[in-house]
Amino acid sequence: MIRINENFTKLKASYLFSDIARRVSSYVAANPTKPVIRLGIGDVTEPLPPVCVEALHAGADEMARRETFKGYGPEQGYAFLREAIAQHDYTARGCAIQADEIFVSDGSKCDCGNIQEIFAADIRLAIPDPVYPVYVDTNVMAGRTGANVDGRYQGITYLESTPENGYVPGVPNAAADLIYLCFPNNPTGAVATKAQLTEWVRYAKKNHAVVLFDSAYEAYIRNPEIPHSIYEIEGAREVAIEFRSFSKTAGFTGTRCAYTVVPKSLMGYDAAGNAHSLHALWTRRHTTKFNGVAYPIQKAAAAIYTDAGKQQTRALIDFYLANARLIREAMTKLGFKCIGGDNAPYIWVNTGRDSWEFFDLLLNQAQVVCTPGAGFGKCGEGHVRISAFNSRENVETALQRIAQALK
Ligand code: MLT
Repeated sequence: MIRINENFTKLKASYLFSDIARRVSSYVAANPTKPVIRLGIGDVTEPLPPVCVEALHAGADEMARRETFKGYGPEQGYAFLREAIAQHDYTARGCAIQADEIFVSDGSKCDCGNIQEIFAADIRLAIPDPVYPVYVDTNVMAGRTGANVDGRYQGITYLESTPENGYVPGVPNAAADLIYLCFPNNPTGAVATKAQLTEWVRYAKKNHAVVLFDSAYEAYIRNPEIPHSIYEIEGAREVAIEFRSFSKTAGFTGTRCAYTVVPKSLMGYDAAGNAHSLHALWTRRHTTKFNGVAYPIQKAAAAIYTDAGKQQTRALIDFYLANARLIREAMTKLGFKCIGGDNAPYIWVNTGRDSWEFFDLLLNQAQVVCTPGAGFGKCGEGHVRISAFNSRENVETALQRIAQALK
């Protein structure tokens, strides 16, 4: 009799965004004449920047000729992309990250989910609440938690993001070995200052811990005081791994390309206390389980770093940020306290009501999909997340419908 990994039975039946998609599909099936506007999952709607499309075509043409055809590429990504990332995302910001510390992949979701494999089964976890559900779910699958009791898994230190702390949790009193941080935050849109990140780096050093820093939304930061990378903080090379994605930066949610930075100076320890390079462990894992991102896709990603690419991606992000401003203004006008939307594509709305009830209300009365805060953790209750990823017309229509429904 084949036995299952019983840790999976501790999880909620389905992944948050699949659950929402199912509810929306059944609403649409029951109400075919009522067009729904989706401001739920953070999926981009605008086409790829022209430089990326040109590079995709050129890459495809190279694959069509024997002389330029490519089979397996390096698992960690082609040098041209890793070098462009190191130069433009790190060296230009004063961060000492080298090209061979960058691992190109097909998405930050996979990397954030897979990275826990290189750590021991009995490490102590600290995970924000609310937060992107992948961090918690993948550790539950790996057996690092107990059961879910009253909306919380036993064995996790939850870092609470609340109106009281401006949705940016401070370091806990308890010691943790692996800390997940996400800034600009998904779902709240909150950003962390240099001083706040410095506290985390100090905490990690003191506890010989590792910070997993998800900065998939860094391109949305407009406040010049806010760090884009954890490596802008002194000492972070010794304590942090960083995840970045082209999904929200350049509309690659369907194209798939991202990267993870594992500095060579970052160490983990075996039971006997011997130090091991996490870069070496992740290289071993990545080369064993991954065969690289398609060549034309990597060409398209590299095009983002050209002058034209930088201009085009900035314009794309400005477009979504203008949507975000409209959403935040409209929800504030309706009397809700909101954060996010200024350095992030998400607006976190404090509704003061049950978040699934509010989700149902917007779906049924306004035909607008948002994401219920409770889906991101217990502290998300009483909130919903509204995403700025849609056309201007749809955002404007959605806001009119919401205002009407909440009258
Ligand atoms: C979200 O809506 O939180 C994101 O789209 C999820 C993701 O990036 O995987």
